[in-house]
Amino acid sequence: MPATAIITGASSGIGFELAKVFAQEGYDLIITARRKERLKNLQTEIENDYNVKVHVIPLDITKEDNACRLLDYTEKNNLNITALVNNAGVGDYGSFHTSEWIRQSQIIELNIKALTHLTHLFLPALMKNERSYILNVASTAAFQPGPLMSVYYASKHYVLAFSEAIADELQGYRVTVTALCPGPTESEFQKVANMQTSKLIDRFPLATSHKVAEYGYKAMKKGKRVAVYGFYNKLLLKTIGLFPRSFVTAAVRKIKERK
Ligand SMILES: NC(=O)c1ccc[n+]([C@@H]2O[C@H](COP(=O)([O-])OP(=O)(O)OC[C@H]3O[C@@H](n4cnc5c(N)ncnc54)[C@H](OP(=O)(O)O)[C@@H]3O)[C@@H](O)[C@H]2O)c1
Repeated sequence: MPATAIITGASSGIGFELAKVFAQEGYDLIITARRKERLKNLQTEIENDYNVKVHVIPLDITKEDNACRLLDYTEKNNLNITALVNNAGVGDYGSFHTSEWIRQSQIIELNIKALTHLTHLFLPALMKNERSYILNVASTAAFQPGPLMSVYYASKHYVLAFSEAIADELQGYRVTVTALCPGPTESEFQKVANMQTSKLIDRFPLATSHKVAEYGYKAMKKGKRVAVYGFYNKLLLKTIGLFPRSFVTAAVRKIKERK
């Protein structure tokens, strides 16, 4: 049975590129997100370019039944899931006290709840294999508080802490867990999060989604627990530990203020 990877949020950005990287490495794929047309186009592109099968499952992964539908699909089709990539994620720019609750709730439902639920649902299948992988897309936002994107940053703290904790629990079970931590990256993320007015966009060069995906795939294969993309991001995260937390929090706010 061919090894199959599930990739959430494959209709754009990092997830779209991760799908291509996994296909290039010979994985069959289940790609999922809400926008069906995007997924269908990606399926055609990948199946033309690589000798792999791509299953398209368009759905809103925050609806609890949908995570279960994904598992049902893999069981009914007897698919051999050896990698779960929890990539889908959203953010929201602005002060928490003026924000719309629906957008904060969506961050929690997608970045935290859906990621945790999918991990819980698929772990038993992953643990049956000789070697399996979980790749959770966190962020450099996971390492410090993020005024003006408070819930998003906190959600990525969760992804990092959860990933590291289960990576420890799973020692000896042949399943590794990697938290991929990109810095600012070219994708639809900034538009969806209403970040166009933030200084952050101008201050930091954006990495390409393709480079982040390639790096994430390699880190996952090595079983790295925490994979921070890029030299400057690594340096920055090492440096912030030297400063008081309140100073770092204020600096993050300064960087992110409106232009
Ligand atoms: N870009 C950055 O600067 C950056 C930096 C660090 C970490 N990250 C993380 O990287 C991951 C990928 O983001 P990206 O930068 O590639 O952004 P993106 O281009 O906006 O992609 C987000 C993906 O999530 C999917 N998605 C959103 N809501 C969904 C829902 N309810 N159900 C199912 N799928 C949903 C979107 O597809 P549909 O809209 O079709 O559903 C899309 O495929 C996220 O976890 C993000 O937090 C991004």
